Amino acid sequence: MGIVRVGINQARVNIKQASDQQGDKQTLKKLVVRGGRPLKGRIRVSGAKNSTLAILCACILTENEVVLENIPNISDVRVMLEIIACLGLHAYWLAEDVLHISGTAQLGGEAPYQLAKKLRASNLLLGPLMARKSLARVSLPGGCNIGSRPMDLHFKGLTGLGADLDIRSGYIEGRVSGRLQGAKIYLDFPSVGATENLMMAAVLAEGQTVLENVAKEPEVVDLANFLNAMGARIRGAGTDVIRIDGVPVLEKPVRYSIIPDRIEAGTLMVAAAASAGDVTLENVIPPHLEPLSAKLREANVRVEEAEDTIRVSTPEPLLPINIKTMPYPGFPTDMQSQMMSLLSTAKGTSIIVENIFENRFQVAQELRRMGAQVKVEGRVGIVEGTTRLQGTSVKATDLRAGAALVIAGLMAEGTTEIHNAHFIARGYRDFGVRLNSLGAAVEYK
Ligand code: UD1
Repeated sequence: MGIVRVGINQARVNIKQASDQQGDKQTLKKLVVRGGRPLKGRIRVSGAKNSTLAILCACILTENEVVLENIPNISDVRVMLEIIACLGLHAYWLAEDVLHISGTAQLGGEAPYQLAKKLRASNLLLGPLMARKSLARVSLPGGCNIGSRPMDLHFKGLTGLGADLDIRSGYIEGRVSGRLQGAKIYLDFPSVGATENLMMAAVLAEGQTVLENVAKEPEVVDLANFLNAMGARIRGAGTDVIRIDGVPVLEKPVRYSIIPDRIEAGTLMVAAAASAGDVTLENVIPPHLEPLSAKLREANVRVEEAEDTIRVSTPEPLLPINIKTMPYPGFPTDMQSQMMSLLSTAKGTSIIVENIFENRFQVAQELRRMGAQVKVEGRVGIVEGTTRLQGTSVKATDLRAGAALVIAGLMAEGTTEIHNAHFIARGYRDFGVRLNSLGAAVEYK
């Protein structure tokens, strides 16, 4: 694709058109899956949604040009592009998965409700805005309804760096006199968002910041690598302690490639196993998938790793397993719903403990409509394997629950209609089309 230069408004128009074409709320109402077809073949995994969202926020920190490769064109990313365009950054697509972003000297300070309500990750604007602006106003974020999702750790950390934060009329209002000041901050829980926000705030702070008990997710490391490429001085990302020596400006223009999406990859792995298929994923980092691969092997799924590919195939029978979601390198909460679908036909009882988000078992009641025998008691899901699911109408309640229901549809007898399919488009690029390329029969309605 050629280079097309457009300004902020045009970029917004392009982004809107893309959302309409690829199915947001107005156009993508349901996915219809005909079950019983094994997935077979090779598929390339997209760039990581969660890295992309954080890195787009990090672009606020520079006045320079940034080129980002391996960007997934999904609706969450398009919303974030609209938000940063509102703040004065120019963004346009150089190619299908390559974005050009120009920073600005005239950075705006307000992220409006209309956009921020659509995206939980809009809370990641706060750190970089506080680092570059003395005043910022960010609407309290929206996002998936998977738990209460407080922001106390973000607040505690930013306050520790010298920001003054308040909530007024649904907006977080922040101010700081002069530069943020480096400090030692201990997180009570290794929150991904709080770690990323504080890292972005601290790169322009005066002096050294030490962040303790931080998240170790690969997306945190990706963000740190990107910030360092722009001229930040961050050490220790991927361990429990991150040290950041503040610099006055980030002045290096960069070209940066986002890591592959371990959750999209994981979802495709589970889909391959659930459909008794044989799929090879390309563009993956196998160690990032180890917490999932280990569990799939325990469930009698064959997982073969090479340098940047993973092949998944399923010798019968599927065995029951126990799962506890944990911060990385534990089993990811973002893969829990998909595993519940898979285990609903394993021979025996599986126990799933959800330790990260308290409201992440909503998929259970939809799976029950398909004949699954799933009980939920607080944070524990008990899955008694049944022989076969039956297709019916179900509804996605969040992004990963939506993907889980598509997987259930692949396994089921007959046809499954998944309503509220716009949730799926938030995080999976052309999910149905891509599954069809592996032999599934999925229609957009
Ligand atoms: C990120 C991911 C999301 C993933 C989650 C956990 C993005 C855009 N989203 O979400 O896909 O499911 O990590 O791996 O990267 N918490 C607090 N106080 C806070 C912040 C968090 O109590 O200030 C709690 C949350 O309620 C939750 C837990 O910490 O129970 C984990 O949340 P966190 O790691 O912050 O998740 P997100 O960054 O929102």
